[in-house]
Amino acid sequence: MKKVVITYNSKSGTTRKYSEEIGLYLGTKKNEVVVLSMKKYHSDILHNADYLLLGCRPSGLMFFLQHPEKSWIDFAAELPNPIKARTALFTTYKILTGSMFKKMEEHIYGSTNSPFTTFKSRNGLLSENEITVLDQFINSKTIT
Ligand SMILES: Cc1cc2nc3c(=O)[nH]c(=O)nc-3n(C[C@H](O)[C@H](O)[C@H](O)COP(=O)(O)O)c2cc1C
Repeated sequence: MKKVVITYNSKSGTTRKYSEEIGLYLGTKKNEVVVLSMKKYHSDILHNADYLLLGCRPSGLMFFLQHPEKSWIDFAAELPNPIKARTALFTTYKILTGSMFKKMEEHIYGSTNSPFTTFKSRNGLLSENEITVLDQFINSKTIT
């Protein structure tokens, strides 16, 4: 059984919902899944984690300059360096994710599997296409 940790920041609930959807789906694949707000993150949670999915709502000017909020950047700075768990990034959005993933990546140091697999959703639901990407990510080899 693989351990999957999913963290998110969310204000109006869409990214939390998306995190829970991802967690529910991966739970059906016999993974041990932990879904939690970044506010509740502490380093022990990553103990023995095989996969880490980092979710963040975008801030920006709707059509451009998307970036993570400072609170997420501060959270990312607390992550281990290197991150041993295979890591993916996800976001929710209204119009465009634009530079969001690039900006998130800039704050993930020492990860061994960059460039990252990414997922996104407008409504917090997991589409068939995203399920395919998620399946490929979870079935990929864990770095030890
Ligand atoms: C200040 C601000 C800036 C935003 N900028 C963007 C943006 O650049 N692109 C976008 O698609 N959505 C943008 N949004 C919309 C939210 O990020 C989006 O609805 C997100 O899914 C909300 O996540 P949450 O419900 O988890 O808080 C912005 C929202 C706010 C409040």
